[in-house]
Amino acid sequence: MTVTIVGSQLGDEGKGGIVDLYGDAADVVVRYQGGDNAGHTVVEGDEEYKLSLVPSGAVRGKVGVLGNGCVVNPRTLFDELDALRDRGLDPDVRVARRAHVILPYHRVLDGIEEEVKSETDDEVGTTGRGIGPTYEDKAGRRGVRVGDLLDPEVLRDRLEYVVPQKRAIVEDVYGLDVADLDDPDALDVDALYEEFREFGRRLADEGMTVNAGEFLASAIDDGQNVILEGAQGTIIDIDHGNYPFVTSSNPTAGGACTGTGLSPGVVGDGEVVGIVKAYLTRVGSGPMPTELGGVEGDTPGYEEQGEGENEELATYIREEGDEYGTVTGRPRRVGWLDMPMLRHAARASGFTGLAVNHVDTLAGLDELQVGHTYELDGETLETMPATTEQWADCEVNLRTFDGWPEQDWAAVASEGYDALHENARAYLDYLSDELDTPIYAVGVGPGRSQTIVRERPF
Ligand code: GDP
Ligand code: IMO
Ligand code: MG
Repeated sequence: MTVTIVGSQLGDEGKGGIVDLYGDAADVVVRYQGGDNAGHTVVEGDEEYKLSLVPSGAVRGKVGVLGNGCVVNPRTLFDELDALRDRGLDPDVRVARRAHVILPYHRVLDGIEEEVKSETDDEVGTTGRGIGPTYEDKAGRRGVRVGDLLDPEVLRDRLEYVVPQKRAIVEDVYGLDVADLDDPDALDVDALYEEFREFGRRLADEGMTVNAGEFLASAIDDGQNVILEGAQGTIIDIDHGNYPFVTSSNPTAGGACTGTGLSPGVVGDGEVVGIVKAYLTRVGSGPMPTELGGVEGDTPGYEEQGEGENEELATYIREEGDEYGTVTGRPRRVGWLDMPMLRHAARASGFTGLAVNHVDTLAGLDELQVGHTYELDGETLETMPATTEQWADCEVNLRTFDGWPEQDWAAVASEGYDALHENARAYLDYLSDELDTPIYAVGVGPGRSQTIVRERPF
């Protein structure tokens, strides 16, 4: 069977930790979208792993697959594999031949476009990993796929077609001189061919490429358990998120089908667990109606949001929750839990269960609030409006909850849900009732054993 792990907010909900938690009973862990924009944390004892491309099951020695819906930067992939091997792990990662390859020019173009947009404060605040430009080329039918790296003639043809176009965009559209770029080889067909042909050889020598759909379907036919590990989150989904402040793929559960080659029947037959942070964080630009306070400095989006009214509390939660981006180190913007956002996420992915993380981070506050509904143009909304401009205009109707004290979290995790302070349970029960979805797990710390497990989906 399958368990699909979906971020229900703006990313960084703690997906990696839940994949690790349920990973003991899994055989295969597959990423179905995104690329090295992800940063998934797994804490095993004293060891902390920050994974950007290698599926989080690697820490437990599970087979990892990068599905066809992913965009793969082979430089990052091999660096990450080498780094994990240096730390004593033995990751077994397969890559879909249908997955698209992030080439150096994608990163260059990501950087240039963000720079241009920043002149009018319109930048998305991307991770700079070339994600958008790679998915653009996929949709534009000019991408390079992993399978192409294995065939020198095809690789050469693809590069000879596409690189002159990219060069023209850099020079003629943006008026830049390629020689002045940090990485002028990013637009040199011969240099790209040599480097990526070599990656192709390594992928072939190590037997790493697969037809992902067939590989996964046959694992499931053999009775194996498969975790589908989403990256990013629902509100930065290209279809269901706050466009254009989104990533360029589908983190929602539909992406688990298109991004792996497993049918909706197979994915829908399994569980879909929505990962929720007990409050809200955001890196990058875009509205955030429940925002408490922004981040000083040049964090994109901050100026437009204005200073949140409760900067002190935002800073407190950011420090308690160690809310700094895994990939870029950027301080995360902080806000209260946003229920209209979660209702939207639950509908889009059909959550069968929830994992709520960071309940420990909020401990010690006298009271806390939740965005229960929105007001927009005299109407009360239970869920998010479809345009980002309308979303930015929403006023939040807040609900106040009594806070809960610090507890011995290790003890709570081993004793179970009833050992949680009653105020924490009231907060979680509200969340579960509003979304009409049971809570499967509650995170009370970053470690594997710091989770209250109520339901094991495998
Ligand atoms: P992901 O991208 O969804 O996998 O999440 P990240 O790894 O980017 O961010 C989650 C951060 O919170 C990591 O540093 C985790 O170790 C940490 N974390 C996850 N769950 C909990 C929790 O329940 N409590 C605390 N204090 N930290 C947590
Ligand atoms: P994980 O998997 C949080 C955000 C970026 C930016 C927008 C577009 O760790 O939850 P991109 O580089 O994807 O084109 O950037 O999406 N973003 C994330 N935010 N967690 C992530 O991944 C993210 N991946 C991308 O900050 O706002
Ligand atoms: Mg992350």
